Amino acid sequence: MNKREWQDPTFLSKGREKERAFYIPFESLESARKYQDNFENEKSDRFFSLCGEWDFQYVKEICDEFYEDEKWDKIEVPSCIQMLGYEEPYYTNVNYPHPIDPPYVPDENPCSIYRKHFILNDEWKKRRTFLIFEGVNSGYYVYINGKEIGYSQSSHNIAEFEITGYLNEAENEIMVKVLKWCDGSYLEDQDFFRMTGIFRDVYLISRENDHIRDISIVTGEENLKLKIEGEKEAKVFLYDEETLLEERILEKGRGEIVLKTVKKWTAETPNLYTLIVAYAGEYLPFRVGFRSISVSNKGEVLINGSPIKLKGINYHSTHPTKGHTLSKEEVRNDLILMKKLNINAIRTSHYPQTPYFLALCDEMGFYVIDEADIEIHGFVSMYSGWEYKNYSKDWITDNPLWEEAFVERVRRMYEWDKNHVSILMWSLGNESGYGSHHDKMGKWIKERDGLRLLHYEGANQVGNPKIFDVVSYMYPSLDKLKEISKEEKRPVFLCEYSHAMGNGPGDVSDYMELFISHDNIIGGCIWEWADHVILREGKRYYGGDFSEPTHDGNFCVDGLVFADRSLKAGSREVAASYYPIRAKIMEEKGSLLLSNHFDFINLKEFEVKWWLEVDGEVMKEGLFREDIEPHSEKEISLPFHLPKEHQFATTLNLKLLREGDLDTRIQLKFLSIPRKSERLLKAPPFNSYFKEEKTKIVLGNEEVCYTFDKNKGILEEIIYGEKNLLRKPFLLTAFRPPTDNDRKIKMKWGLFEDNQSAWNLNKTFHKCYEIKKEGHKVFVTGALSGVARVPYARYQAIYELLTSGYLRIRIQAEIDEKCIWLPRFGMEFAVKREMKKFSYFGKGFYENYEDSSHLSPIGKYESDTEKEYVPYVKPQEHGNHGETVYLQIYDEDGIGLSFETDEVFSFKVSDYSTEELTVKTHDFDLVKSKDTEVRIDYRVSGLGSNSCGPELLPKYRLSEKNITFEFYVRPFGK
Ligand code: GAL
Ligand code: MG
Repeated sequence: MNKREWQDPTFLSKGREKERAFYIPFESLESARKYQDNFENEKSDRFFSLCGEWDFQYVKEICDEFYEDEKWDKIEVPSCIQMLGYEEPYYTNVNYPHPIDPPYVPDENPCSIYRKHFILNDEWKKRRTFLIFEGVNSGYYVYINGKEIGYSQSSHNIAEFEITGYLNEAENEIMVKVLKWCDGSYLEDQDFFRMTGIFRDVYLISRENDHIRDISIVTGEENLKLKIEGEKEAKVFLYDEETLLEERILEKGRGEIVLKTVKKWTAETPNLYTLIVAYAGEYLPFRVGFRSISVSNKGEVLINGSPIKLKGINYHSTHPTKGHTLSKEEVRNDLILMKKLNINAIRTSHYPQTPYFLALCDEMGFYVIDEADIEIHGFVSMYSGWEYKNYSKDWITDNPLWEEAFVERVRRMYEWDKNHVSILMWSLGNESGYGSHHDKMGKWIKERDGLRLLHYEGANQVGNPKIFDVVSYMYPSLDKLKEISKEEKRPVFLCEYSHAMGNGPGDVSDYMELFISHDNIIGGCIWEWADHVILREGKRYYGGDFSEPTHDGNFCVDGLVFADRSLKAGSREVAASYYPIRAKIMEEKGSLLLSNHFDFINLKEFEVKWWLEVDGEVMKEGLFREDIEPHSEKEISLPFHLPKEHQFATTLNLKLLREGDLDTRIQLKFLSIPRKSERLLKAPPFNSYFKEEKTKIVLGNEEVCYTFDKNKGILEEIIYGEKNLLRKPFLLTAFRPPTDNDRKIKMKWGLFEDNQSAWNLNKTFHKCYEIKKEGHKVFVTGALSGVARVPYARYQAIYELLTSGYLRIRIQAEIDEKCIWLPRFGMEFAVKREMKKFSYFGKGFYENYEDSSHLSPIGKYESDTEKEYVPYVKPQEHGNHGETVYLQIYDEDGIGLSFETDEVFSFKVSDYSTEELTVKTHDFDLVKSKDTEVRIDYRVSGLGSNSCGPELLPKYRLSEKNITFEFYVRPFGK
């Protein structure tokens, strides 16, 4: 039988040191203290990086011998071999990329052979040398100077080997043989591009012969308990920046330091101290924070006794050209960007992160949900179909041979990460059903850590056993979440919610309202941080682009930020929903209710800038600073008088003055102020004419002329200065290019693969029953029907010529009772290509939808079709602007069309047609339209997050059955 070590679930490592807390040894107190600056291991003389260039061979088959004579390539370590051309990337979500036949993996199991030479200085030879891998996928053998020294698997866990006895006097050679698959691969079925190689840092450390092996640092609000594994006495130094607070001798490996006044650690106030443990010639630096964690009887999670809300994100390490490998700078930039978006919690989905990542979370202030490197999702489809089984014999979660394989992943995570103050919760992994191994893992970690909370989402399938401090769910609807919160005494946590795929998510703020209003809903983590794509020659690819036998298309392109970390509207929506202040205007009282949603910071720490805008102009502005405790609110009287009337809108805008913020603000509208109408729209036209020809009805004056097709009943031309400004007629339509979040509902909206289920809105026929002229009006009655269906809309349109050439368009439509709610409803047409600039008063400056526009203030904006394009990887609906009162589209000479309304409309001006954005699968295939495509809409439905989350909330659906919609159009500028 082809039973090899790496297909034996009980064989997990060889020669690997027992797991311990992470630290880097230094040679002196001074040098150790410098570590706090940016956790640069290189600052220690006892650290020797093996990152950089290695020799490399890729061998297609499993191999036991090394091909010394063959040509070696050069490879940069850390890296993923799929990103370097040795193999194609492979994206699969739930399905395994290989059969489910544990512990067997495919016989075609390519090996990546790495080789490097290094010379250590003489000082090192007096001490012991250890080799550390921070991450290698999947199983790997390590050889020093030709001798095998060990084996490890569990890709995202640190492995340490002692290599002292194997080293040469002069040059040394390290060789690593990395297998593509091992039995451990069954535990790593995370939803990402599957990658191979030494993908995280690898290095050596030099240790005193006698040294501390492990050290545990447990802090409370003002005390620090130390436990050290070592025989001798240790000396401990505690610094607050440059000030030495404590110096202690630690006997018998245990000790406690109590500080009276301590700056506590929270995610909002990440105060850290430096602790240095000196032992037998070694100095080990740690950054420590003081905080307590508890759960209130209301089910709140308390930090230092105060309830917190987790405004979180799920974080995968992903890079468009480097796969799972990220530089320290890239990690730091990710975290800086998260802070800008007001994120305060990170779930390390679905595996532990690097020590550097955690050190930054301590320093910058994030609550971390540290997750074990376990996901066996593919088992749900082992017999085809989809079934989770708990305590099941055919799941490895219950097979005793696999017990240690599970437990060691939790143990290794815990031991290496345990000293980080930012860790709030441990997670037993993701989507792995529930079995006896989960009971074991939970028990192990609860016995080991009395402080942190435990969660595992899979536990909700077995009624959330008592051992879990927090009950955890993914993607429940708001109603379901309310129900759970009612039935559960424990804190309720959404380890995943608000699927950020494509244009979205649209529902974050509604979840946030529930988090705030329910004590035991402690918040959640949006799925997920960044798009996973493969970038080649400027083009972004996803699953299925690499001929993978099974794949999940663009389901990996679901980031809150693009792969290059640029922002999209959804990112800004999250910044707004997670914003730490909220406000309400009380118009009758002339006051403002301002609430502080920080958990620890009094609002008086920041100045708030306010300004009053009338019709887009700043009328008054000022600053205030208010003493408002966390979780409380205050009424503030408004220091200005309001206008009696306005043309468009009057708003109060508020902005917290903080460094590094996005341009986040709160905008509040005064609803009681009436709108004045400047235009004498209703006056009768002068010098106008009205002609009926054979095929046309023409309505105009000496400046403009509107032409209707008598057969189709549609506005076909707007002639101005003898030129027709329209390129496609005004058509009533209801379809939009589906977003990723529309991927389910689009099957009911439009005709795609299945020709039975939809209303076929994307294949609309326009029927005109009657067109007639009467005075200065054209009346049309008509219907819109998807192919093979009854009319979904029947309407009457009235076109009326008014003073100064305005054409008033009024639509009254009835939507079929049985029809599915609509993506949108309004006029779609095209104007000549040159008309690509526009100005408007509405919601801007970036695209916005009803459920994702909390950060797009109403105002006066200018834009053009190029700026409006949003480069979603898979083309889709984008570029909408809601709450608009006027829009002017014009060319270089300032000639164009103006659209106005006494109500509000939504609009979009684009280089791309609806059809083009619907059918193309990659942005680089998009072809610009010959014209400028325009929509003037009654409403456009919201975005939601139904790509994985619940259906769009009813309030954001266009489900009205009677629609009245009116606007004015007119050419201008000659
Ligand atoms: C969740 C899963 C994530 C991801 C997401 C879809 O169920 O935990 O890993 O697959 O769905 O993007
Ligand atoms: Mg999964």
